[in-house]
Amino acid sequence: MVAAVRVHKVGGPEVLTYEEIELPAPGQGQIRVKQHACGVNFIDTYFRMGMYPSPVGLPFVSGNEGAGEVTAVGPGVTDVKVGDRVGYVVALGCYASERNVPADRAVKLPANISYEQAAAMMLKGMTAEYLLRRTFKVDKGMNVFVHAAAGGVGLILCQWANHLGANVIGTVGSKDKAALAKANGCHHTILYRDEDFAARTKEITGGKLCSVIYDGIGKTTFPASLDCLAPLGYFVSYGSASGQVEAFNINILQTKGSLFATRPTLNTYAAKREDLLAIANDLFDVVGKGAVKIPINQKYALKDAVKAHKDLESRNTTGSSILLP
Ligand SMILES: NC(=O)c1ccc[n+]([C@@H]2O[C@H](COP(=O)([O-])OP(=O)(O)OC[C@H]3O[C@@H](n4cnc5c(N)ncnc54)[C@H](OP(=O)(O)O)[C@@H]3O)[C@@H](O)[C@H]2O)c1
Repeated sequence: MVAAVRVHKVGGPEVLTYEEIELPAPGQGQIRVKQHACGVNFIDTYFRMGMYPSPVGLPFVSGNEGAGEVTAVGPGVTDVKVGDRVGYVVALGCYASERNVPADRAVKLPANISYEQAAAMMLKGMTAEYLLRRTFKVDKGMNVFVHAAAGGVGLILCQWANHLGANVIGTVGSKDKAALAKANGCHHTILYRDEDFAARTKEITGGKLCSVIYDGIGKTTFPASLDCLAPLGYFVSYGSASGQVEAFNINILQTKGSLFATRPTLNTYAAKREDLLAIANDLFDVVGKGAVKIPINQKYALKDAVKAHKDLESRNTTGSSILLP
């Protein structure tokens, strides 16, 4: 038996149930991982509340990001061995002390990346990589806009975009978050609870506006996010922390300057093993050389997953959160 946090019926944070579950031996192509840390992500709340349907039905073990040591390998696994240190992103199953993972989704961790760092960044950091390097290629001198700049993905995006030479503008929910975002590469912060963020962006950029906006907020920042973009700019809607963007008339993209709009997910960008490894290696490189730091600002015991979700959804967290089995 192993400790795990399961959802038996979808709902609020209180449906997360800490319990003992059976763990079978790793099957064909699987490895068993003794988890050292589990990442907490906004997507975990979408599955918990049923906004994203669970691919394995109910009950399911929550969580989509983790890191640990390989303790057994199933039939057909050749390139991972017992004792390897791995990190991974897999849909569900991560809030557990031990679990089985498809070997082709596991990435071996370099010696200079700790388990806690890996659990705090495999999902958030690989997302930052594909958003900045693949969905839209950020370059020196560009104005780049990041919503929720002090959040888990947000702090990584700000540091990385800054490292690429961009001028980074970010929104934050409080003055403390503004100070934190600034300390992590965000050049200009906007308190979007009080200020008109599109008008402030116009001011900050002297009317030039931005080449790209990374919007993980969704419902409450749309369509104002489009007004932060220069002609031919990219609206990258990558999350729905405030609810999903509602259906809109595509002509709005024309009237606001022939804009591009996309709703990307890491699943697509890292679907092929070679892309998964390339994205992970790019992340390990910037973190390894200290250009991007992974602030782990909340640590909880695995049994306290309810509190972790409550804190995340009430906008009380900054940077990454992890659960420790
Ligand atoms: N598409 C992908 O591949 C992908 C992958 C990973 C994550 N994501 C998305 O990235 C976004 C950030 O994820 P994360 O795990 O790093 O979370 P996070 O940014 O640490 O937390 C969410 C933040 O959103 C802001 N927010 C604004 N309105 C909110 C509301 N109504 N309720 C809750 N929060 C609100 C809060 O910051 P302020 O207080 O500063 O407003 C809050 O701290 C999420 O939308 C997530 O779904 C997408």
